[in-house]
Amino acid sequence: MEQKILELRQRAADAIKTAANNLKDLDNIRVKFLGKKGEITSLLRGMSQLSAEDRPRIGKIVNEARAQIEMLIAEKNESLKAKELSDKLASEKIDVTLPGRQIHSGHLHPLTLTLNRVKEIFLQMGYTIEEGPEVETDYYNFEALNLPKDHPARDMQDSFYITDDILLRTQTSPVQARTMERHEPNTPIRMIAPGRVYRRDDYDASHSPMFTQVEGLVIDKGIRFSDLKGTLEWLLKQLFGEKARARLRPSFFPFTEPSTEVDVSCVMCHGQGCKVCKGTGWLEILGAGMVHPDVLTMSGYDPKVVSGFAFGLGIERIAMLSYGIDDLRLFYDNDIRFLQQF
Ligand code: PHE
Repeated sequence: MEQKILELRQRAADAIKTAANNLKDLDNIRVKFLGKKGEITSLLRGMSQLSAEDRPRIGKIVNEARAQIEMLIAEKNESLKAKELSDKLASEKIDVTLPGRQIHSGHLHPLTLTLNRVKEIFLQMGYTIEEGPEVETDYYNFEALNLPKDHPARDMQDSFYITDDILLRTQTSPVQARTMERHEPNTPIRMIAPGRVYRRDDYDASHSPMFTQVEGLVIDKGIRFSDLKGTLEWLLKQLFGEKARARLRPSFFPFTEPSTEVDVSCVMCHGQGCKVCKGTGWLEILGAGMVHPDVLTMSGYDPKVVSGFAFGLGIERIAMLSYGIDDLRLFYDNDIRFLQQF
């Protein structure tokens, strides 16, 4: 028995020393000798067959052998771990001089940049920013703006109807009426309302069934046409530089009287005449006018007490002119090569 134990201990020691080349092998050896079904365990089980006087002595030898094997395994475990670490360090060299990986952060869309610029200019003049729904009622989109049903001027805005009375708004002008209704009658208003508008239209270099407008509305006692002109001239100089001039041409909108179409001196040739302005020296940029008395009345304001002006400008148009872009679709196509340039 004693011989058997010594022989077992020797075999275990040899195996640990020579056969265990990695942690996994070492664990297999541990299981083979010390595991539940291992050789030491079965030796201990066999102890019951020994005589009472042999048992303590043999038991002691077995326990010593087990302790020795455990110790050898622990030592080998340490040295194998150290070896694995140094192998790893040797094989995985890190080149700290390599440049880091660049993180690409997103940025604002050119239309958002342009819109922010316009907002900034009006915030500086004390305007508030108002909002209205894109799915609008016929009343706010047309009727409250002096465009009763069957008014021929409705034809200018081919519309997306959802029901007979609900449509995608064709302009930001409905926010005029909505804002007036929210105010105490005849109290001053100075607001802009930016947002998307929708018209049944082609999709080409200069048309899109969806685009972005900024509405403006100012109401107070004694607001005059010259206030409108001064405001728009200021806006255009802020957007296109000191050289920019405004030209007002008579026009028609049912909700303003008088109405005007506003041109800016060509941003490319400053009025000399070029390809962009088709030789005229001017570019059409927005619609405006003095708020029609009927529009004031419908929203609870008294045209005998207050007056006002309104305007509507297209953000795409302004972005195209400021950045020199010749195709409107570039704003919506999400081509990263285009967007990365802003
Ligand atoms: N709503 C008009 C349009 O979309 C623009 C406009 C706004 C004209 C305000 C006059 C006053 O064409």
